[in-house]
Order: sequence, then C-alpha cells, then structure tokens
Amino acid sequence: MENIKNIKSTEDAIKLLNVALEHEWAVSFEYLFHAYSFPKGKFFYQDPILKRRQEVRAQTIQIGIDEIYHSLQLGSIINQMGGTPSFETDGVIRYPRIMDNLERDKKTEDLVTNLYQSAEFEEGAFPKIQNMVLNISYDEVRHSDQFVAMMDAMRAEGAEDAMCHQSNLENAQKEEVQLLHAIMRAENDLMHRYLKYVILFSEHQDLSQRLFKNAIDHMKNWDKNGGILIKMGDVIQIENAEKDSDGVERTVSPMPSIYPEEDRLSALETLIPAESDLISKYEKLLSLVPDGAIKDQLEKHTGLGREHVFTQEWLLKNAQKIEGLK
Ligand SMILES: [Fe+2]
Ligand SMILES: [Fe+2]
Ligand SMILES: [Fe+2]
Repeated sequence: MENIKNIKSTEDAIKLLNVALEHEWAVSFEYLFHAYSFPKGKFFYQDPILKRRQEVRAQTIQIGIDEIYHSLQLGSIINQMGGTPSFETDGVIRYPRIMDNLERDKKTEDLVTNLYQSAEFEEGAFPKIQNMVLNISYDEVRHSDQFVAMMDAMRAEGAEDAMCHQSNLENAQKEEVQLLHAIMRAENDLMHRYLKYVILFSEHQDLSQRLFKNAIDHMKNWDKNGGILIKMGDVIQIENAEKDSDGVERTVSPMPSIYPEEDRLSALETLIPAESDLISKYEKLLSLVPDGAIKDQLEKHTGLGREHVFTQEWLLKNAQKIEGLK
C-alpha cells in the first residue's frame, strides 16, 4: 500500500481515496475468506467494547462487512469528485493456522490506520474528506483491538495451532462441489458488479438503493454457500491463489478488476444475462443435491435470482421508456 501524505489538490485526494479503496476491497475479501475457513461456534473472545463474549468467526465476518461499507463510501466520493474508482485490490493471503490469519488481519488494520491518520490535508482544502478518513480510521482501530482480543482468547485456551478448514482433494472429482465453487465466483462477481453500479449511480437514491439491495442478496448467498461448502467437506476457494509448500495461499487478484459498462442502460442490460447464467448454475446444482437442508437453502438462492431477473428486466424497460435518461 502506497502511503499518500500531503493532500493539496483534488488529484491528491482522489489518489489517497483510491489507494484506500484498493486496500478496503482486499480486506473485505480477506476477512471473509478467513472467517469462512474458521470452524463455526468453536472459538469465542471477550469483546473489549461490547463487554460480552462474541464468536471469532461471526465477528470476523462482521468486520469484513464493515470493510465493504468503507469501500462504498470511498468509491462514491471518488465518483462525486470526478475520479474513477479503482477495482484493483491489494494482495490477499490465507494461512493454514487460524492464529496466523488473525495476526495478519491485526497488522493490516494497523497499517491502514496509519495511512488514514498520517494523511496531511492542506488546511481547509477537503474538510469533509479529512473528516471521513478520520472516522474510518477509528473503525480500523476498533477492528485491530478486536483481532487482538481474539488472539488473546485463542492463546488463553491453548488454541494457537487450531487449523482452518482445508479443501479435500477428493472433491476435485465431485461435480456438485466444483459447481458450488463456480457459483461462489459468480456470486462474488455479481455482488461487485452491483456495487460498482451503486457507486456510479450514487447521485440518485432510487437506482442505487435498488442495486444495493441486490448486491446484499448476493453477499448473503456467498455467505450461506461458504457454510454449505464446509458441510460438503470443502472450503471457500481464493480466486487465482497459489499455494506454497507450507500451505500458504496468496493472490493479488481476489476479484476481477474490470466490470463492464459505465452508463445506466448498458449496465442494466448486462446484469440480466449474468443473473440468468447464475440461475442455470444453481438449477444444475439442485439436480445433483439430495433433498434436505442444503437443497432448501440452494432453492432459496435460486428463487432470489429469479426475483432479481424480474426486477432487473423492469429497471431496464422503465429506463428505456424515458428518453434522455442518463
Ligand atoms: Fe476499512
Ligand atoms: Fe478494518
Ligand atoms: Fe441477483
């Protein structure tokens, strides 16, 4: 992460916000990849602010969601300032041991707190941005303290060597597991396409709120699918990751850096086939999965996809009815 210190021009401000955005995209993934690899309901810590026992996995997911909100804040302001929000991301790592992931997450929080708090703004130049950056930085301070408390709790119960879920090699031959991985990638891709358009069309609440709802639905599906993968004896895959001999996975592109289209009509047009394609993947998977809780959950996701197609078709038709709508 490049450290941007002196903010004098609009260009400097956009640069700082984009460096921060690339970081926020990366951590939003990294924390979710980590959390979805942790055992559910097993590790707890005493939260220093909530003053209550919280689950490590659930709170790591919550922190990941905070980072998505940071991304949206930064992207919308970059867009308002006439800049182009970046969809490049910093690198992402997953270690086999839970503790090593928490340690990395804590260090990442401290690094970004420093980026935000050490930025020096020319007096009176961008007061609202300066204020936003400071506000975000204290979310990061909170996150750092949470990761410290999680590690303290793990050490106290002798769980330093507790491991993340691992992918089972036999699953390479299982069509349903491979299909679910493909669905995970598609859910992730669609979530970020919606988020891009939320950012681009953030000047008007009607469209951006509707697109945001769909982005959240895809995020929730991603979350549920992460749990289903564990039940199938696998774990969320990190896109484009290489695994070294110690089992450490690294990627510099955990999500696509380019999402198609910049204007309202073509953005809306491109979402419909993407939604339909995702539904066909789910339908194929449903034909392979026996009746039961997993199938019920996958049917919910498929139903939601059909609702998205309905909504998106009307968003497009209604936009086409109005001449000159941009
Ligand atoms: Fe953040
Ligand atoms: Fe954070
Ligand atoms: Fe959808």
